[in-house]
Amino acid sequence: MRALVLAGGTGTRLRPFTYSLPKQLVPVANKPVLVHCLENIRQMGVEEVGIIVGDRADQIREAIGDGAAYGLRVTYITQAAPLGLAHCVKIAAPFLGDEDFVMYLGDNILVGCLAETAERFRASGSPARILVTKVADPRQYGVAELDETGRVTALVEKPTQPRSDLAMIGVYFFTPAIHDAVNRIVPSRRGELEITDAIADLLGHGGQVDAEEYTGYWKDTGTVADLLDCNRLLLDGTAGAVGGTVDAETVVQGPVVIEEGATVTRSRLVGPLTVAAGSVVEDSYLGPYTSVGRSCHISGAGIEDSIILEGARVREVTGIKGSLIGRWALIGSTARPAPQHRILVGDHADLEVAVA
Ligand code: TTP
Repeated sequence: MRALVLAGGTGTRLRPFTYSLPKQLVPVANKPVLVHCLENIRQMGVEEVGIIVGDRADQIREAIGDGAAYGLRVTYITQAAPLGLAHCVKIAAPFLGDEDFVMYLGDNILVGCLAETAERFRASGSPARILVTKVADPRQYGVAELDETGRVTALVEKPTQPRSDLAMIGVYFFTPAIHDAVNRIVPSRRGELEITDAIADLLGHGGQVDAEEYTGYWKDTGTVADLLDCNRLLLDGTAGAVGGTVDAETVVQGPVVIEEGATVTRSRLVGPLTVAAGSVVEDSYLGPYTSVGRSCHISGAGIEDSIILEGARVREVTGIKGSLIGRWALIGSTARPAPQHRILVGDHADLEVAVA
């Protein structure tokens, strides 16, 4: 079995971060979302992976390379424009050949091994197996209707009146039968070749589509709130490990990861949290669910429940919470009297300033 990982797309919901970084490379618990996907694929026993890349191909190639670091062999497949999930299958057909494959959306995080699901798919002989999960508001998802044996009877994309609360999540198993289906469908109203339509086409041609309910943690990391949610969950599972330098005046509580090459002085750290290599934290409070990326400089700051990307600097600002701070950004205080703020932020930025 091969894997097809989708790491193109536009990532409009994650602007401004996606102006300079593909969303699949945003780190969660200090590891890019795409790496979480690749590790999960390797756990399934798959080694040959095709990664769909769009206009941020260079950054993804640089981060993942040939895949050897993850025990994988990676082939990059360029998608000229984000024309839909089924379009990705279409352009990957030469790579996939006549093998079964798992298609994995490169912005989805699933906690838990899918090796048994892959095995059930192989044993079933069905042309497709999808994973579904119960959601509170199915109207924003591709929704599956199942019969009592777990077979899919209908699939509807973002139904206004859902007949089931089971949303499809971003991992799909296919035999090569999907290629004919993908070639039969036409673009949807939004101009994309929809994977939902391709699976519905399989059903329409008498193919059996199996579904199994996924009860573990799953998140589509399409928005900042989703990323922070994932970060909390993944940090909850970490055991502390201090490899960097922490001085005697620093107080450490709970599971705290300080990578080798990071330095912490005169600070209070309350885990779960992680500080990546090359970062300096001084005279600061870092609270639960904070991920500090590589080469950051945090001084006189107070931060919790936040993701700080590589190279960011926070100086003399406390009370930072629920925040995503971009690469090489600078957040600083000023000697100017309140309430004067000097603000220099990029397009589509989202800034909340607390007023007394
Ligand atoms: P989406 O999150 O559905 O699309 P998007 O990346 O365009 O995001 P937004 O809605 O915020 O603009 O895509 C799911 C995954 O599939 C994601 O990793 C991007 C990838 N993808 C492709 O590789 N090619 C495509 O044509 C599309 C639509 C998505």
